[in-house]
Amino acid sequence: MQEQETIMQIIQEARESLMRAATTGDLETLRVHFQGRKGRLTQLLRAMGQLPPEERPALGAMINEARENISTMIEAHGALLRQREQTARLAQEAIDVTEPRPAGRAGGLHPISLVLRDLVETFTGMGFEVVEGPEVELDSYNFELLNLPKNHPSRDAQDTFYIEDNIVLRTHTSPVQARVMTTQQPPIRIICPGRTFRADEADATHSPNFHQMEGLIVDKGIAMADLKGTLDAFARSLFGDGTATRFRPSYFPFTEPSAEVDVTCMVCHGAGCRICKGTGWIEMLGSGMVNPKVLEVCGIDPSAYSGFAFGMGLERIAILKYGINDMRLLYEGDVRFLSQFR
Ligand code: PHE
Repeated sequence: MQEQETIMQIIQEARESLMRAATTGDLETLRVHFQGRKGRLTQLLRAMGQLPPEERPALGAMINEARENISTMIEAHGALLRQREQTARLAQEAIDVTEPRPAGRAGGLHPISLVLRDLVETFTGMGFEVVEGPEVELDSYNFELLNLPKNHPSRDAQDTFYIEDNIVLRTHTSPVQARVMTTQQPPIRIICPGRTFRADEADATHSPNFHQMEGLIVDKGIAMADLKGTLDAFARSLFGDGTATRFRPSYFPFTEPSAEVDVTCMVCHGAGCRICKGTGWIEMLGSGMVNPKVLEVCGIDPSAYSGFAFGMGLERIAILKYGINDMRLLYEGDVRFLSQFR
């Protein structure tokens, strides 16, 4: 039968072309050529109609067998080629994880974070524990329990953002004192760092959003000397051994007596300069002995316990420590500024 020869020939051709197929793409072309709708075997099948009917089944079977043969060959060769291509691709895409990367720009901590870390380290070293509180605060913790009743004139100095009548963005970190004193009995020895808010216009020395750190000790026999000693140690640790503190009488409703604390000017070391306006001192924080009224409303017996508290602005410390001349720089996120601090 002439067709039989043709089929053998096709198989032989397929085998030879397969040997030359170097890629899975080549293989696909071959598959179409031999087995596609216009492929050689399909053409033979079509031509079968011209044969006498009795010859057709045998030929049909032969064509199908050939088709399967070629299929198997293509499959086998395809598996080989896919394997080879994958190996080549993996080799090409290999990453040398030991190769040094090009030096990128490393990030750094924000000056406020640097100051905060310093303070936390200093005070935890003295045995203080870090406590945090909410930035959205109840009026009672922010004001009332701290002896700042509604309509008290010194509320004006801390005008803030009201969420509702009795809910404010906290104006200082002192509400955390109140939260701790209303839930814990002495001994209490805490620092409370965090974000605070006041309805101030932003300028070189003010921002509606700033940071404070509060300190509070309540125990038996705590005296003003303890406050002074603690703040002296803090000032030396932050600004160096030669630093001293100076107390000036002041007023806060939640402390009595109250003191404004100055430290030796870190720029001129007390000689007098432009930064300290010639005085040799820099105003640094507010402090005082916890007002017995505050102890009492918070549920601590003022005849058995006394305490001191202090509060400071982190921005102010950062500005002084790093010689920053405009507070707004701290919030603008300008990398040229920020990358100076590491
Ligand atoms: N809370 C005061 C303020 O923000 C600072 C302060 C804290 C004063 C603790 C005395 C004691 O101005």
